Amino acid sequence: MKILVTGGTGRVGSEVVKELQKRKADIRLLVRKNDAPTPTGVETAIGDLLDPVSVEKAMNGVDKLYLLNAVLPDELTQGLIAYDLAKKLRLRHVVYHSVFRVEHFKDVPHFASKLAIESALREFDIPFTIIRPNYFIQNDATLQDALTKSGIYPMPLGQVGISAVDIRDIAEAAAIALTSDGHFGKTYNLNGPEVLSGPKIASIWSRVLGKEIRYAGDDMDAFEQQMRKKAPSWSAFDIRMMFQGYLERGFVAEDGDLDTLTKLLGHAPRRYEDFARETFVKWQAIPKAA
Ligand SMILES: NC(=O)c1ccc[n+]([C@@H]2O[C@H](COP(=O)([O-])OP(=O)(O)OC[C@H]3O[C@@H](n4cnc5c(N)ncnc54)[C@H](OP(=O)(O)O)[C@@H]3O)[C@@H](O)[C@H]2O)c1
Repeated sequence: MKILVTGGTGRVGSEVVKELQKRKADIRLLVRKNDAPTPTGVETAIGDLLDPVSVEKAMNGVDKLYLLNAVLPDELTQGLIAYDLAKKLRLRHVVYHSVFRVEHFKDVPHFASKLAIESALREFDIPFTIIRPNYFIQNDATLQDALTKSGIYPMPLGQVGISAVDIRDIAEAAAIALTSDGHFGKTYNLNGPEVLSGPKIASIWSRVLGKEIRYAGDDMDAFEQQMRKKAPSWSAFDIRMMFQGYLERGFVAEDGDLDTLTKLLGHAPRRYEDFARETFVKWQAIPKAA
């Protein structure tokens, strides 16, 4: 039973690969470059999700597909090329990495792409499982300077908050869905165990860093402007629309989500504060430039 993994060099995909290896799964990674950073001994196929010929070649001889697409303006095309070829080759199972509450965020470009891909999965007869993760806890690993230098938690999560989830739990859930029975046709919401508002995360970091961290607030224009300094403007806009949706429509786990995920994983999902403590230890281990 061979599994083709897309996005295997990325944050979630590389953890999915580790979880599949723990379960002794036979895997092949679709990678774009010969020298892509992959674990030793793992089979790779060179290809690009925008090049159907290379994707079909990579899919030949595999039974299952783990489909994760990067957030890009052509995400929908990349996702459908992979799905349509999985359908053509009659793969036995597709596990698709989507996003939580996707049907409530039709105005957010990368959510709308995922909703369209989900609807193709539901339309045709290839067995599928959809995983829908909340905001990744690990996104905040990039906030070292804001937290430690400026004393600010800058992500506009609002007062109601979200149920951010640890990437390691997402990877475990994906690997379980790919390597055990009983997941065909299922959609799993993947949420963390607690509701995290902007002020609540600031208070967690205050405890972890031993100094006051202030929540920066929900000024979306200022946030988008900041985002444009480190990302293309289409991406800054997309991310702004996502956070605006969190504030307007909420991103908190639904009833039953936590029980379902705890049963699926065989343990409770990981907590934000544990991530914050681990991350702070890593930051302390890295020498800072003067
Ligand atoms: N961040 C969040 O809070 C959050 C929450 C829920 C869902 N999500 C979803 O999670 C996904 C992102 O996961 P991630 O953070 O693990 O992604 P990531 O670290 O950005 O990795 C993206 C992966 O996609 C590959 N890729 C990009 N373009 C490709 C192409 N044309 N052909 C083949 N491979 C290509 C990259 O390969 P290279 O190494 O060659 O670049 C890399 O392996 C997105 O769909 C996002 O919407 C994110």
